[in-house]
Amino acid sequence: MKAVNGFGTCGWTTAIGVMVFFGGLFAGGAQAEIALTVHTDRPVHSIDPMMYGLFFEDINFGADGGLYSERVKNRSFEFPDAMMGWSEVQRGAAEGTVAAICKQPYKESDARCLRITVNQPGEGVGASNEGFRGMGIHKGQEYYFSVFARTDGVPMTLRIEAVGAGGNKVLEGTIDNIRGDWNHYILLLKAADTERKAKLNVLAVSEGMVDLDMISLFPAETARHTDRPIPGLRKDLVELLAAVKPGFLRFPGGCIVEGRTLARRYQWKNTIGDLQDRQILVNRWNTEFRHRLTPDYYQSFGLGFFEYFLLAEQIGAEPMPIINCGMACQFNTAELAAVEKLGPYVQDALDLIEFANGPAESRWGRRRAEMGHPEPFGMKYLGIGNEQWGPQYIERYKIFEKALKERYPDVQLIAGCGSDPEIFPNGPVEVEYLWSQWRTLKPDIVDEHFYRRYPWFFENTDHYDSYDPQGPKLFVGEYAAMTHGVASPENRNNLICALAEAAFLTGFEKNGDVVIMSSYAPLTAHVEGWQWKPNLIWFDNLTSYGTPNYYVQQLFSLYKGTGRLKTEMSLPGASGGIRPLYVSATVEEKTGQVYLKAVNPTGERIRADVRLAGPQGYRRSAWAVVLSGAGPDDENSIEAPGRVVPKKRPVEGVGETFAYSFDPYSLTVLILEKE
Ligand code: AHR
Repeated sequence: MKAVNGFGTCGWTTAIGVMVFFGGLFAGGAQAEIALTVHTDRPVHSIDPMMYGLFFEDINFGADGGLYSERVKNRSFEFPDAMMGWSEVQRGAAEGTVAAICKQPYKESDARCLRITVNQPGEGVGASNEGFRGMGIHKGQEYYFSVFARTDGVPMTLRIEAVGAGGNKVLEGTIDNIRGDWNHYILLLKAADTERKAKLNVLAVSEGMVDLDMISLFPAETARHTDRPIPGLRKDLVELLAAVKPGFLRFPGGCIVEGRTLARRYQWKNTIGDLQDRQILVNRWNTEFRHRLTPDYYQSFGLGFFEYFLLAEQIGAEPMPIINCGMACQFNTAELAAVEKLGPYVQDALDLIEFANGPAESRWGRRRAEMGHPEPFGMKYLGIGNEQWGPQYIERYKIFEKALKERYPDVQLIAGCGSDPEIFPNGPVEVEYLWSQWRTLKPDIVDEHFYRRYPWFFENTDHYDSYDPQGPKLFVGEYAAMTHGVASPENRNNLICALAEAAFLTGFEKNGDVVIMSSYAPLTAHVEGWQWKPNLIWFDNLTSYGTPNYYVQQLFSLYKGTGRLKTEMSLPGASGGIRPLYVSATVEEKTGQVYLKAVNPTGERIRADVRLAGPQGYRRSAWAVVLSGAGPDDENSIEAPGRVVPKKRPVEGVGETFAYSFDPYSLTVLILEKE
């Protein structure tokens, strides 16, 4: 399999992976006798409240076609192919023309509209929108159809209908008496039926002409931001995000921050304000992979920086924007902004902090206030570049750091460490070079990425043991365990990969004095609109589900505790490689609860003799929250979203010493209550 652009040409390989299934993966036979001591007297170090967060990128229809619940693709006819997503409709004996035309006066962000001329109305002349692989409509729910329209004076009637795959009309309505200059027309429609792949027809049914722009269909019920809707975000997806109780929300990516070229980089200022003023941009993932071409993938920025901040606030996560540092994606063009020309890039970063944190009277704080949020967002973290490497990055990072720290010393800056060293040219050497620089420059936080086949995660839980707790703190900002290989379309979000990630996370907690934040990537994917696998959450036009990997994130986040407890474990028969059990014990300072997380990657029950060493007594009755499945390949899906989900069950007989038998292929959290 080859990639069209840089991800292939710069050495991203799609390993022809073979699922390695390891029932008897550790030497020693059927039943290990494991002795596990948890020192409950005091934590050895704290666990950062930010430890588990979310990484959002508009990849796989993550924003347009996903979280941003606009049903109409190319609503403003601003795609370079102005009619992309639209097809002409002439019904019955109708005669007329339908075409995208230039608007007057010309404005780059709002250059075109649709002109429908009706000579003979018949049953209507107009256009049909295909949505994002169709449009999801839920029976009984209300939808806002809205459009900007104008006529040359003669009143026009529009018929609006959403039509199911079988021709059934699920939404229907009429807007009469459209006349004169541009006006906004809104219609509230109730769905007669549920449809996964509807189309929207907009038909002019009287003689004359009408210009239409920003043709939009939105569910009336979108995610709420305290007392008001977060402009247009899909409720089920926001609920899944919130249920992780994430420490932070990193946005807007990923490589999307960098762009294939600098001209196509992510520029936050183009993503705020009136929707019509948000300059559409091609999505960098549209043709990245030949095996998953998505030429109709654009960024409308309906989900822009203001909405990201609102979303973070709503789900209780610290906002963590990442900004372009004058470098385009090094897997693509690797274009550089000359150091002398870096001024506007640095200014964008300074202005972003003012937009987020400045008083409502400041220039950018006022923009935030005008959009409805006079209170500052209190942003504490900012990423400088994404997967950058080489001396060019260091040179640019220093310029950003100087300017930002001078004005905003309290904002923590995140420096990158390239991509996964195994997948970019000369990766290990480049990463070593970056670390040699970071050890001297001491950025607040360094961001590392890992995209590898799942055994690596089991075998490298001690990866952070050798990192210096006095050095920069670590953000493992992107990682995912693969069944096959990086960006392989064969990758699965199955249980064994989820357990591999869980084992790796025990290593983060063990080194919680080094690793302070982490996030799985990518976050979301449309089952038909994806470019990259695996992903944490999958959705179609109607529903969504968390993968086993999602539930690992959720359990680690809910039961992260505040301090790590020392554990000692004897694993008879285990000699390197993949172990029969991985554990991490933490304590919740406020309640004294102990969370003992254990990963059993084997097909057998693993019994451990647990000793709670310390003066504190624990109740005999406890809880176990268990994520397991029928086998290592088990997955969730749109049809079976609940196959691999955590289940809570009571546990009896906890004492100073007790035995516990961990289910095959499981992540278990034992919740011990102090007496
Ligand atoms: O998560 C998908 C991509 O992987 C991200 O955009 C990028 O940072 C990494 O290479």
